[in-house]
Amino acid sequence: MNRKHGEMSAPNKSYDPVEVEALKPENIERIRDEALAAFAAADSLDALQEAKVAHAGGTSPLSLANREIGALPPHAKAAAGKLVGQARAAVGRGLAARQAELEAERDARVLVEEAVDVTLPYDRVPSGARHPLTTLSERIEDVFVAMGYEVAEGPEVEAEWFNFDALNIGPDHPARGTQDTFFVQGPDSGEGEATADAADSGVVLRTHTSPVQIRSMLDREPPVYVICPGRVYRSDELDATHTPVFNQVELLAVDEGLTMSDLKGTLDHMVKALFGEDMKTRLRPNFFPFTEPSAEMDMVCYVCRGESVGNPDRPCRTCSSEGWIELGGCGMVNPKVLVAAGVDPEKYSGFAFGFGIERMLMFRHNVEDMRDMVEGDVRFTRPFGMEI
Ligand code: DAH
Repeated sequence: MNRKHGEMSAPNKSYDPVEVEALKPENIERIRDEALAAFAAADSLDALQEAKVAHAGGTSPLSLANREIGALPPHAKAAAGKLVGQARAAVGRGLAARQAELEAERDARVLVEEAVDVTLPYDRVPSGARHPLTTLSERIEDVFVAMGYEVAEGPEVEAEWFNFDALNIGPDHPARGTQDTFFVQGPDSGEGEATADAADSGVVLRTHTSPVQIRSMLDREPPVYVICPGRVYRSDELDATHTPVFNQVELLAVDEGLTMSDLKGTLDHMVKALFGEDMKTRLRPNFFPFTEPSAEMDMVCYVCRGESVGNPDRPCRTCSSEGWIELGGCGMVNPKVLVAAGVDPEKYSGFAFGFGIERMLMFRHNVEDMRDMVEGDVRFTRPFGMEI
C-alpha cells in the first residue's frame, strides 16, 4: 500500500497494528523521546511553545499516530491505544514540567532584573542655581522696592532718540560714534533696494539703561520713582575688564522739591543695605549731558574699608589703596531732559543714578576676570549657592 504520511488507513479486518509503521512500539517511543528531548532543549517559554506545537499539537507525529488507531481492527485497538496513550501522557507531563521550570526561571530573572535599589540616591540631577548677576540685580531692586520704587523696563533695541537725543546727547556727541554704539540695520524696503545703512537707521542696541528714564516719565504722571535694571551693549572686545554685553541699573526719582541731598541720602541707604551699615559714599564733580549738576559716586572700599590708604604694608588691589571704589554716575536730572519727556521743570525736579552690575559683582565677590561672569561655567556660579 502506497500511503502518504498522515493519511488514515481504511478499516481492514486483517489489519495488524504491528504492520502500521506509525504505530510500531519503537516508533511511538522514538516520537515520545524526540518530544521530551525537544522540551528539554527549549530554553525559553517561546521556544517551548514552538516545541509544543511541533510535538504535542494537532499535526504532531503523536497525534497522527493516535488517529491511525481508529483504522485498526478492534482487537488491535486496545494495545495500540494503550501504547499511544502512555506516550501522550508522558509527553504531556514532560511539557508541563518544562513549562513550570521555565516559568520559575523567568520569575526569578524578573525579580532580579526589575528590582528597584531603594538605597540609590533619588536626587541625581544637581539642582541648578541662578546667575549671581541676576540675584545681585534683584537684591538691588528689593532695596528700592522697599522704599516705594517701581521696577521699570525698556527695550534693548532702542530708538536713537531715546538712547541719545532725549537725554541731551546731541548728534555730535562722541558717545554716538560707531566705536561705541552698535547700530541696528533697518528693515528692507521690500522693493529690492539695498537695505538702509545701519548707521542711518535711527535704531541702536541701547548703550545704557538711561533711555528707560525717558520712557518711564512718558508713561507716568509725576511723581515718578523707578528702578530700571537691564542689559546694555557697547562695541568692546571681551577681556578681563570689558564685555560687549553687560548689565546696568538705572534709578530715577522725579517729584516736587527733590534736591541733591535726597540723592545723597538715597545712595547712602543703598550702599548700607547692600554692603553693610558702616558703608559711606562720596560725590565727586563730573559731567553727564543728562544731569546737571553731575557727579561720580564712590563708596568706601568694600575690601579694605579704607585701611590700605597710607599703609604700604597692607596694599589693596580692589581700590588700588585709594580707599574708595567708583560705583557709577549720578546727578540732578537736566531740565532739558524733563522737557523732552513732557515733565514741567518749573514744578518738578529729579535725580538719577546709573551703574554697572558686573563691576559691583566683581568687587563685592572678588571676581577678577569679567569673562568668568559671561561664560556660563557652573564652576563659577556654583559657589554663589541656590539664592533665589
Ligand atoms: N548712563 C550713564 C552711563 O552709562 C551712567 C549714568 C550717569 C546714569 C549719570 C545716570 C546718571 O542716571 O545720572 O555711562
